[in-house]
Amino acid sequence: MEKYAFMESLADNFYLVRGANNATIPFCNSFVLDGNERVLIDAGLDHSVIKAIDADRRIDLLIITHSHPDHTLASHLLGDRTLMLPEETPDSVHDLFELGRRFTGSDRGGIHWEQRMRSVYGLQPLKPADARFKNGDLLDLGGARLEAIHLPGHLGDHYGFFDHNSGVLLTTDVDFTGFGPWYGHEEASIERFKTDVQTLASRDARLVCSSHKPPIRSGMKDCFDRFFASFERQQQEVLDTLESPSTLEGIVAASPFYHNRFPDPFLQRIYEGHLVKKNLDLMITAGIIKINNDIYTKVKETTHAIH
Ligand SMILES: [Fe+2]
Repeated sequence: MEKYAFMESLADNFYLVRGANNATIPFCNSFVLDGNERVLIDAGLDHSVIKAIDADRRIDLLIITHSHPDHTLASHLLGDRTLMLPEETPDSVHDLFELGRRFTGSDRGGIHWEQRMRSVYGLQPLKPADARFKNGDLLDLGGARLEAIHLPGHLGDHYGFFDHNSGVLLTTDVDFTGFGPWYGHEEASIERFKTDVQTLASRDARLVCSSHKPPIRSGMKDCFDRFFASFERQQQEVLDTLESPSTLEGIVAASPFYHNRFPDPFLQRIYEGHLVKKNLDLMITAGIIKINNDIYTKVKETTHAIH
């Protein structure tokens, strides 16, 4: 099957399908398993790519790892195939306004998000699931033996997989990007995300694949360590905006995460608000900053523990 430039073999009958534009949003890497049935994991691919894979051999089953649109992008092209979703995926995936409301926290945000996703990305809602998987399930599918690993730090219904047959670990949006961990929704959690990274790092994987970077075939521990270190780097960058005391709005306007380069300013404010606020809450608990009358003030210069 490795006859296409966008396919890369990971193991026997297990392929990575590279997302367009180096698998940057709105695309992601997806994965093909070829056994008795052909399985596609995530659908963040160009339409032409999904059609080519399907023409080569019919895709029987689509597994979606979580509700984010870069993972469901072209799923409607497989509307007549079996769809498996995480047990935790809520009904909002079947209605783009409701999904937008979930991701933005307001009706206004839901309208904006739906309009943007339809017009810019051609996103369509997911059809009802034919089957569900949950944490710890072993899915004997496509010649693999996939263990579902719940990773809710990124999103409540976010999953990775470990194939016990090949030793391939799919970390999905524990993604090793330079941005670092993304937890820009209300339902995301930095502390849980840290646990998720440690859970994945503890697996004895032969090969590690995320949704937005090339496969990692060696030096996995260093990659996990570097990604884990970016939690602290992100927190320090939030702290660095507090040269003088500031409100949450002031810190978000300083944009320590997106540097005001996110393509949609309205969504940037919402996502950056969560990214910033979650770090502020942790720094208050750690005594690094304090809050008084909605004004945040630096108490320590660094997020590092000083001994
Ligand atoms: Fe995601």
